[in-house]
Amino acid sequence: MLKRKDLLGLIDISAEEITEILDLAQEFKNRIKRGEKKMNHLDGKTVTILFYENSTRTRTSFEQAAKYLGATAINIEASTSSVAKGETLVDTGKTLDAQRNDFIVMRHPMGGAPYLLAKTVKAGVLNAGDGINEHPTQALLDMLTMREVYGSLKGLKVAILGDIKHSRVAKSNLFGLKKMGAEVAMYAPQTLIPKGMDQLGAKICKSRQEALDGADVVMGLRIQLERQEAGNFPSLGEYAANYGVNEELLSLAKPNAIVLHPGPVNRGVELTSGVIDHERSHIEDQVLSGVAVRMAALTLMNEARRGN
Ligand code: NCD
Repeated sequence: MLKRKDLLGLIDISAEEITEILDLAQEFKNRIKRGEKKMNHLDGKTVTILFYENSTRTRTSFEQAAKYLGATAINIEASTSSVAKGETLVDTGKTLDAQRNDFIVMRHPMGGAPYLLAKTVKAGVLNAGDGINEHPTQALLDMLTMREVYGSLKGLKVAILGDIKHSRVAKSNLFGLKKMGAEVAMYAPQTLIPKGMDQLGAKICKSRQEALDGADVVMGLRIQLERQEAGNFPSLGEYAANYGVNEELLSLAKPNAIVLHPGPVNRGVELTSGVIDHERSHIEDQVLSGVAVRMAALTLMNEARRGN
């Protein structure tokens, strides 16, 4: 049973906790698909969304999740708040606590920032991406999308290709998928794979072909130009030609393999348009999974706070 004040990463979560979140998320996803958008699991609660970095999907889906559950959602843009006047994260946290916020969803460019906030505040903290560290709800929504198609994550081969070094999504997926019994194969230019991924359980492949061969899931990751030090690869064109996934390469995966990408996509770089818009692409479905997974995490954390 999920008995935690905060959801900061998948590094220390159990397979049972992941299953509990995914089971409830699937229920919420089915309800949303039926047109239900008014639920009362979080009636009277406040969810504050504090983002120090850009976002479309993650921010709006947390807001929708809170609202569908009957909570009040408050958005704070760091660029227009007192953060821009130099307020520290700890002081911002204390202010939000004084207002009796129940949950704080935070995205921050520094790895570890949500851990500091979580130690400071009484509110439950959900990490919506911290630097290149973790993005737990993204990996949970990816796992929900896979599990809905395949019924189980056990034994699946998940090929992750793209900018693994700068990706919090890759790390959270690796932690989560390994716990659920899936195989994770990674491929990228050597300069974009951090050392030690193999020790964390990833299979580091020598070619796109090796990574894609027999894969059940093909996950592309965005080349994070904003986090690139110059020189990790020659040009976007050469990246696409040598490391990207096109339809011909996709055919090496299992015949019914699905395509995922956390978004935003650099069209024609990590995946060609033919792959992004392929009938086996679940990129749009991932977005709905995102709302459902965030509803499930908030609901279970709220129950834990009430001591249920
Ligand atoms: C990712 C992120 O911000 O970590 N996107 C997302 O949350 N949907 C991946 C990315 O920015 O490339």
